[in-house]
Amino acid sequence: MVHAVVLGAAGGIGQPVSLLLKTNPIITKLSLFDIVNTPGVAADLSHISTPAVVTGYLPPDDGLKKTLEGAEIVVIPAGVPRKPGINAGIVRDLATAIATTAPKAFILVISNPVNSTVPIVAEVLKKHNVYDPKRLFGVTTLDIVRASTFLAEVNGDVTAAPTVTVPVLGGHSGVTILPILSQAQPSLSKNLDQAAIEALTKRIQFGGDEVVKAKDGAGSATLSMAYAGAEFAAKILKAVKGEEVITQSYVSLDACTEGGKKVAQEIGTPLEFFSVSVKLGPNGIEKILPLGDLNEYEKGLLKAAIPELQESITKGVNFISTSKL
Ligand SMILES: NC(=O)c1ccc[n+]([C@@H]2O[C@H](COP(=O)([O-])OP(=O)(O)OC[C@H]3O[C@@H](n4cnc5c(N)ncnc54)[C@H](O)[C@@H]3O)[C@@H](O)[C@H]2O)c1
Repeated sequence: MVHAVVLGAAGGIGQPVSLLLKTNPIITKLSLFDIVNTPGVAADLSHISTPAVVTGYLPPDDGLKKTLEGAEIVVIPAGVPRKPGINAGIVRDLATAIATTAPKAFILVISNPVNSTVPIVAEVLKKHNVYDPKRLFGVTTLDIVRASTFLAEVNGDVTAAPTVTVPVLGGHSGVTILPILSQAQPSLSKNLDQAAIEALTKRIQFGGDEVVKAKDGAGSATLSMAYAGAEFAAKILKAVKGEEVITQSYVSLDACTEGGKKVAQEIGTPLEFFSVSVKLGPNGIEKILPLGDLNEYEKGLLKAAIPELQESITKGVNFISTSKL
């Protein structure tokens, strides 16, 4: 019995992510919230012959509270693509509702800029005394998915993408995205020279721009993001059921004292949030794993990521300290 919620469920990501969650047989209740169109989305999905009972809510009549009652996992793709300032306020208000109605839920933040929206959610939860860093995640799975696909392409066999893994660390925008190709599995073929590695790194970091360009300004990644969001939600739910799951996500380094300290040492600068490899368990983050060996090029990427990450985290924290909650 799992109650999953999507906030922003009528959007470009919200609709397909809701569809994919509806097809996850572990989910028995799926509640959808948006400021528009959720009754239609819910009616449509409710005809699919999978276990989840789907309900759509709108803001009137305490719709957000009703959506969140008893929620165990909340996925947030609400917002406006590539309009970071607006999203900060939207995410703050949704986090406030989660803090008061479903404080124990796993929270999966998709709304960009993830580097700031995750600190925003954390600060709101702290103000309500319900913050559990083990249960708050910035969804960076799309970077991981892209890394697997693009590396498989470079290796000349895109059909192998599901078996290719590349840890992607750091943050979730541009230069803060750190694909650690030296740790790829299977390991990189010897004939991939440094120029090819750098081109592949850039493609993973700026993969979102390819989609924006191809959609000719009409939107950003929605379908691949929905796939990534649903995959990450499925990983959380597998861990809840007792399966061992290791993946990367943008999380608080306070989620695991020992592992967080080790990563902070590896980074060399105190950062509250970082995308790291985490071991997930029934209560969320069980362990933060070390970054591991980085080559000289990757060490340079890490160094270049830190100022932007630091600035984004501070922006998120300051946004809440100056907000009236
Ligand atoms: N994490 C990632 O990898 C990633 C990838 C792509 C896009 N994104 C981000 O995801 C977000 C959504 O993108 P999209 O393409 O689906 O946008 P969209 O505009 O198609 O959908 C956003 C939805 O949010 C809804 N919404 C707005 N304010 C709301 C509120 N207060 N409460 C509930 N719902 C609200 C809108 O009505 C809309 O249906 C954007 O912030 C985008 O930048 C993240």
